Amino acid sequence: MIKSRFCDMVGTKYPIIQAGMGPFSNNNLCVASANAGVLGLLSTSGLFDKEEQPWIYEAFIKTADSTMDDDMATVMENVLKRTYRLTKDKGGIFGINVMVSAELVEYSKIIIETAIKVCEENPDIKKHFKVIFTSAGDPYPWRDVIKNAGFTWMHVVPSVKGAQRCKKSGVDVIVASGHEGGFHTSWEPVHSMTLLPDVVDAVSDENTLVMGAGGFCDGKTLAAAFALGADGAQMGTRFLATQESDFHQIWKEGVVEAGDRGTLVARGFVGPARWVKNDRSKEHASNTLKMAPGVYLGAPDDYTTIDMSLIDYEIESIRAVCTGDKSKAMMAAGEAAQRISDMPKVEDMVQKIVSDAEKILRDMQNKYIA
Ligand SMILES: Cc1cc2nc3c(=O)[nH]c(=O)nc-3n(C[C@H](O)[C@H](O)[C@H](O)COP(=O)(O)O)c2cc1C
Repeated sequence: MIKSRFCDMVGTKYPIIQAGMGPFSNNNLCVASANAGVLGLLSTSGLFDKEEQPWIYEAFIKTADSTMDDDMATVMENVLKRTYRLTKDKGGIFGINVMVSAELVEYSKIIIETAIKVCEENPDIKKHFKVIFTSAGDPYPWRDVIKNAGFTWMHVVPSVKGAQRCKKSGVDVIVASGHEGGFHTSWEPVHSMTLLPDVVDAVSDENTLVMGAGGFCDGKTLAAAFALGADGAQMGTRFLATQESDFHQIWKEGVVEAGDRGTLVARGFVGPARWVKNDRSKEHASNTLKMAPGVYLGAPDDYTTIDMSLIDYEIESIRAVCTGDKSKAMMAAGEAAQRISDMPKVEDMVQKIVSDAEKILRDMQNKYIA
């Protein structure tokens, strides 16, 4: 059976993370993933923007035992209790993905404080809710609060420098995210084939694990993650296109139908983002080139001068993909979309990934060692 140090540290059956994919709800996907033996992650950033993007909040509360009148902390508490209720019998392990960039700190604090409170009130929840996964910001300020609360701490980075910052902060599992990945990508992109082994060499040791992200979607790529020195892989796009995933059917179909060279990078809310190629995203890429060329030059936008029509276009496109308006929809997804051609049940998909990876790793010895 495929296993790694990741399983020992977190308690999952398999060394795979179902990526948190915000600001969209992953509430049902997380339950299915945890119950299939991988780490399920709830995204939480959909709760940050009730006023500006109520359709995202609305979609979230539907599977969070909550109502539109509930505030962010109450919805968070409810969704954690729901996830626990739905995973405890199968021994599922789950966590939360929390964006901690400077402008979101107020919200991140509420999410993390609520998570700690829920576990203090019912210690049995802690046996299943084991992980806080931070992203999009500096991990250092969070070291005491997350570690002291006894969570396994994971953080995602696009560079060796970022990984070293994680190590200094005491992060337990560093996720190296290559440019292949879905939705937001780094301003200065490096792909997994280069980034992952470099991060492994820089920070992996007996206390610090490294997982790959960006392009991992099947047994071949999971086996490759091990070959590159990682302890496993995080998968986003692959889990998005599953039966149980909370994403709209047109989004899932967009991934399945993406095909060869099926994604592009254009502006997306906080910087460069990877989208499924369609007429709408191609137009957006062309506008990005004209109005926010920094996306392609590694120079972050100046938010005081950026053309608002670009941002309005992104908001309209996301609203469309959440409500099923195909003509205006842009679907965030990773390059791996071109290798995905089905929409399986999570349990079946996980079983296929781990059994294929196991076979590949066993065969390698016979094939390549004289
Ligand atoms: C639709 C979508 C939304 C995402 N949102 C987030 C997010 O809110 N926070 C985060 O850390 N990563 C986010 N990601 C990145 C994933 O967590 C993961 O690192 C990435 O999907 C891995 O690459 P892959 O798509 O090739 O599997 C998102 C990815 C997708 C596809």
